[in-house]
Amino acid sequence: MTQSQNRKPIRKAVFPVAGLGTRFLPATKAIPKEMLPVIDRPLIQYAVDEAREAGIEQLIFVTGRGKTAIVEHFDMAFELETTMAGRDKSLEVLEPTRIQPGNLVTVRQQVPLGLGHAIWCARAIVGDEPFAIFLPDELMIGSPGCMKQMVEAYNEVGGNLISVLEVPEDEVSSYGVIAPGKANGALTEVKGLVEKPKREEAPSNLIISGRYILQPEVMRVLESQEKGAGGEIQLTDAMARMIGEQPFHAVTFAGKRYDCGSKIGFVEATLAIALEREDMADEVRAMAQRLLG
Ligand code: UTP
Repeated sequence: MTQSQNRKPIRKAVFPVAGLGTRFLPATKAIPKEMLPVIDRPLIQYAVDEAREAGIEQLIFVTGRGKTAIVEHFDMAFELETTMAGRDKSLEVLEPTRIQPGNLVTVRQQVPLGLGHAIWCARAIVGDEPFAIFLPDELMIGSPGCMKQMVEAYNEVGGNLISVLEVPEDEVSSYGVIAPGKANGALTEVKGLVEKPKREEAPSNLIISGRYILQPEVMRVLESQEKGAGGEIQLTDAMARMIGEQPFHAVTFAGKRYDCGSKIGFVEATLAIALEREDMADEVRAMAQRLLG
C-alpha cells in the first residue's frame, strides 16, 4: 500500500462564523457577516460549495449569538418550497443549500476569544482525524476551487497544509506570513509562521489565506489557550508550534482571493464575480463604464 492510501481522507470541515463582524456595522448588527450576499449567494454558500467540490462531507459551524440565519439557510424551507412548487417554479436554485441529513453540525463559541479558540470549540466533533478549515469571509475563486487544490496536494504530502498567496511587499504587515523552505511547483515547505510582521522583518511575501488542512493534534496545542496578537487566541500561533513536529506545507493558490471581511474587498468581489457571470457580465460592464464616465 502506498503512503497516500494510508492517509485518512479529509471528510470534515470547520467554518468559524462566531466573529462579531464589527467592520460591517451596522449591516451586521442583526445579520451575520457570513450571510452578506455577493450578488445572489451569501458568503457562507461560496465556502460550502468549495468544500463540497473538495469532497468534504460533514460541515461544522462554530457559531455565536445572532448567527441562526446561517443554519436556517442550510435547512429545508418548507413553506417556500411548497409555494414555489405550487407556482411551477424550479427548486433547482435551492439545491446548493441542501445538506445530507446529519451532515451539518453546530457548536457554540460563547465568547469570541479568537480564531484559534473558535477552532478548538469544534474539537469533540473533529475527533481524531485531519480536517479542513474555511474562513468564509475570504472568498476564493478558482477552477478547481482552493480546497480541491489543497486536497490534491494533501494526497501527495499529508501533514498540515495552508493556502498562501503572493502579495506586494508593502502589504505583508496586514497578514500572517510564512518563512518558506524548499519549493516544488505550487508546494512550499513551511519553516515558520509570523503574524503581521513589520515589512522589513517579513520572511517572505507569501501570506496565509483562509483555507487550512490540519492534523487533529492542533487541538491539543490550542488547549493551552495562550493569547497572542490582539489578546486573541490565534490559530497561527498554534500552527507555528506544530512546525518541526509534523510535515507542514503551503500551497500557492492558483486563483483569486477577495477579502470580503473588508468593505473594499467586498465591493471588488461583487464587481469581479458579476463581470465573470454570463447572465450579467455585459450589462455590468456597460454600467461600470457609464459610472466611470
Ligand atoms: P475576523 O476577525 O475576520 O472576523 O475573523 P470578525 O471578528 O467577525 O470581523 P471584524 O474584524 O470584527 O469585522 C475571521 C473569521 O474567524 C471567525 C469570524 O467569524 C471569521 O469568519 N471568528 C473570529 C470566530 O469564529 N471567532 C472568533 O473569536 C474570532
